[in-house]
Amino acid sequence: MLVVDDDPAILELIAARLQDDFDVVHTSDPFAASDLARGRRFDLHLYDLSMEPLPGLELLLLTLARAADAAVVLMTGEPSIERAVEALRAGATDLLLKPLRFDDLPTTLHRALQKARARGATQGVRVAAVHEALTRAVEAKDPTTSGHGERVRLLCRRVGEAFGLGPADLEILDGAAALHDIGKIGVPDAVLSKPGSLTPAEFDLIKKHPELGFRILEPVPGLDAVRRCVVEHHERWDGRGYPYGRRGSEISVPGRVLILAEVFDALAHARSYKAAWTRPQIEGFFRDGRGSHFDPELTDAFLGLVERDFEQLVQPEVAR
Ligand SMILES: [Fe+2]
Repeated sequence: MLVVDDDPAILELIAARLQDDFDVVHTSDPFAASDLARGRRFDLHLYDLSMEPLPGLELLLLTLARAADAAVVLMTGEPSIERAVEALRAGATDLLLKPLRFDDLPTTLHRALQKARARGATQGVRVAAVHEALTRAVEAKDPTTSGHGERVRLLCRRVGEAFGLGPADLEILDGAAALHDIGKIGVPDAVLSKPGSLTPAEFDLIKKHPELGFRILEPVPGLDAVRRCVVEHHERWDGRGYPYGRRGSEISVPGRVLILAEVFDALAHARSYKAAWTRPQIEGFFRDGRGSHFDPELTDAFLGLVERDFEQLVQPEVAR
């Protein structure tokens, strides 16, 4: 947890009282606190409301803009109904009165943490449901891609974990995998489900879907990293992909996982224009694409997975 109070004496007292219950980082400088919260994640924040030059309410807004599910508890020595309402409206989990009741403090803060977690879980369920609905909207346009979004999501999880990605990147991948083809909503049906090969003009229409997806998701707050993956999902490691020809480390790490997982699923299943590929064909494709189409180290991790678990990668829903 992160404790911020511009009165160093009170700050020391609070930190001492909480050190047995929480992993406490504390500072009397609200700007330093803002920098600290940028560099690492805190689940619980305790801020004094009246601080100079950055009041607790401002710090609360900065904190929630970065981590909407964080528990932020404010403390005030000058209670008023207006201030309490303002703090709770801004997203504070609780408001404590000073002088603090030190005996109750750990219990009160544990309760705030639980409250924020419950709120985050509800939001998470809602977000997942919206992702699922949008995925279905895309798949309704092209029934041969039915199940593709969910399979790619599960695949991204497995590949991301095998590649050592942390929870934040895995969460980005969850959203990006579910939403990567959302831009296909803007591509004409006749082109999208045309059997056989496309004319160059038709292919140009298809190639617009990553940027269309990026624009469709623009109004949704908190999706910057997800949108970046969406726009990157047809790029290639060697810079010969589309829409921007980004290469190597210019492509985000979760974006590289999505590129690879998306291609694997497209090859392993039949589409309107092709039959499902065999395992040797797929393995050959990824070996050839190592360092040209795909991130070489990621390809190595992936080929290891293919060797151990090919069938479950083809139908990852079985693994749930
Ligand atoms: Fe796509």
